[in-house]
Amino acid sequence: MRRTAVVTGASRGIGRVTAERLVKKGYRVYGLCRKVPKEKAGIRFISCDVSRKAQVEKAFGKILEREKQIHVLVNNAGMGISGAVEFATEEEIEKQLSVNLKGSIFCSQAVIPAMRKAGQGRILFVSSLAAIFPLPFQSFYSVSKAGVNAFSDALGIELAPFHIQTCTLMLNDVKTEFTDYREKCFEGNEIYQGRIARSVGKMEASERQGMEPETVAETVIRLLSKRRMPSHATAGTASRLLTLADRLLPAEFVLRLLAVLYG
Ligand SMILES: NC(=O)c1ccc[n+]([C@@H]2O[C@H](COP(=O)([O-])OP(=O)(O)OC[C@H]3O[C@@H](n4cnc5c(N)ncnc54)[C@H](OP(=O)(O)O)[C@@H]3O)[C@@H](O)[C@H]2O)c1
Repeated sequence: MRRTAVVTGASRGIGRVTAERLVKKGYRVYGLCRKVPKEKAGIRFISCDVSRKAQVEKAFGKILEREKQIHVLVNNAGMGISGAVEFATEEEIEKQLSVNLKGSIFCSQAVIPAMRKAGQGRILFVSSLAAIFPLPFQSFYSVSKAGVNAFSDALGIELAPFHIQTCTLMLNDVKTEFTDYREKCFEGNEIYQGRIARSVGKMEASERQGMEPETVAETVIRLLSKRRMPSHATAGTASRLLTLADRLLPAEFVLRLLAVLYG
């Protein structure tokens, strides 16, 4: 039987490459995004804004009309908003949390009943190292990914008796259009003595030098093929060393280092 996977944010970047890899692996792949691309590469696209619960329910309803089961959900859709906390508008805060965190929650809620009835399923969250290394001037992005990590862990415990596994994949910099799509607010840059622009500029420079999305897609495939997915995972040696450092080093030291790098 062909296995079914749903990948959110499948129109470009990490989601696109991951969806293509899953197609090559023999999965029937559904891709959710707002702007359905012309070039589909075997991915069945459904237009859906993951931050809108009604749209998510409709999209998964359509998939479940066609498929008996959804074996895999990759919660990948995401975006970044940067700026100083004191100048962030209610709309910006809401958007950041709605797309990255609520979107993952809504999509997970939409697949749980079918996975529970089938007695199996895997939900993988594309998170960020910003979840454990909170970034100044990207506070709400960091909050959204810390939320994703907590949600993945709590959900994994809830669903374990139904043999549904969760995994949060914390990524370092990846070379995608994520950087170009970031919504940047420089309000208060002078008050903050140029720190907002410097911090975001540094981050963007390292994203442009980051790993290829193919490396992430390979990691996703490897994680999904494991009999038991780890609860937490990273991609690449540098990320593994960083997560180890987080476990070994005192919080004060890590925060001081983050202040030097991005403060
Ligand atoms: N790139 C990095 O350095 C990096 C590092 C750590 C973690 N990540 C995480 O990796 C994930 C993928 O990022 P990426 O680098 O591949 O970025 P990307 O190239 O900008 O792709 C983002 C994808 O998400 C979709 N998307 C955005 N908002 C959406 C919404 N409201 N509803 C549905 N789909 C939406 C976009 O499609 P539409 O615009 O058509 O909706 C697109 O397909 C994100 O969760 C991001 O936080 C990225």
